[in-house]
Amino acid sequence: MVKICFYDTKPYDKIYFEELSKNYDFEIDYLESKLNHKTAVLSNGYDAVVAFVNDTIDSKTIDILYNNGVKMIAMRCAGYNNVDFKAAKGKIHVVRVPAYSPYAVAEHAIALLLTLNRKTHKAYIRTRDFNFSLNGLVGFDLYGKTMGVIGTGKIGKVFIDICKGFGLKVIAYDPYPDKESGIQYVDFNELCKESDIISLHCPLTKDTLHMINSKSMDKMKDGVYIINTSRGALIDTEDLLNAIKDEKIGGAALDVYEEETELFYEDMSYKIIQDDVLSRIISMPNVIVSSHQAFLTNEALHNIADTTLLNIKRFFVDNILENEVC
Ligand code: NAI
Repeated sequence: MVKICFYDTKPYDKIYFEELSKNYDFEIDYLESKLNHKTAVLSNGYDAVVAFVNDTIDSKTIDILYNNGVKMIAMRCAGYNNVDFKAAKGKIHVVRVPAYSPYAVAEHAIALLLTLNRKTHKAYIRTRDFNFSLNGLVGFDLYGKTMGVIGTGKIGKVFIDICKGFGLKVIAYDPYPDKESGIQYVDFNELCKESDIISLHCPLTKDTLHMINSKSMDKMKDGVYIINTSRGALIDTEDLLNAIKDEKIGGAALDVYEEETELFYEDMSYKIIQDDVLSRIISMPNVIVSSHQAFLTNEALHNIADTTLLNIKRFFVDNILENEVC
């Protein structure tokens, strides 16, 4: 029997993990706490922990897990920028779910873009109040505009295919271009200069940290839209806020935020938010924020549970390490 400690459990996670874990000889305890150096102590007696995007898996957390005898951190997500995997090396194996549904994320990016542009969120609220005025709801045709895609991996490629259906001209930047894909690649500066809309689909690394900042935004067209469904820290949010105030940026749709860890996935509606940058940016009429929900489809949740449980079974039962974070 493999004993698993499941951190940061939400009801929608549990449904899929409980159902699929019936196929395995696992004992899973579901905790609501996020994994960090304060809660890592709860892992005592478990073989593996399951963690998510906003857990803080730094060297301190890893040492506590290691001393508790935990052999594996199974990330139930694709990104692993919140794991100090160098500190884990030689102590604990870290595995992840490299792909679960690129469609879920790409489609959410499109949903954000359409909402931002055609202001359906405002129309919905107005008509419920019998306000049938159209003032302030003017959008633009996507047809014929230029979409700049940063990162042409699994999600970026699905996103590009959808964009083509709208008649958008697509250009892309990726330091590792897929030459067989037929995608029109340009360098980062040209992408900034030419795009009417920019959508981010690359991982957070030291090279991509704050790649959207005042310097790169200065190069962009006036009124450009920015869509971020990747990682918050790709954008310097304070610079973005200033560019929105200066009316340089025409609109922003953000599914992720660089300081989201303590906020996203929780009901904070009854609390005073101390993060002034987030409060200010959310208050902008041309900004939409969703709380890291791009992955949230039935198919993605099923695939996340499926691969995570299989990663654990392969290691503890079959002695094979799959989907390890290098
Ligand atoms: P992927 O690994 O298939 O593709 C990432 C692409 O980014 C690769 O083509 C890579 O060459 C490129 N890249 C690497 N460094 C770059 C740089 N400096 N500039 C531009 N491109 C660069 O990853 P996938 O599955 O397409 O996911 C992309 C990102 O989406 C993930 O890293 C994750 O942060 C985010 N994500 C967000 C979710 C959400 O719920 N909001 C859910 C899943 C992923």
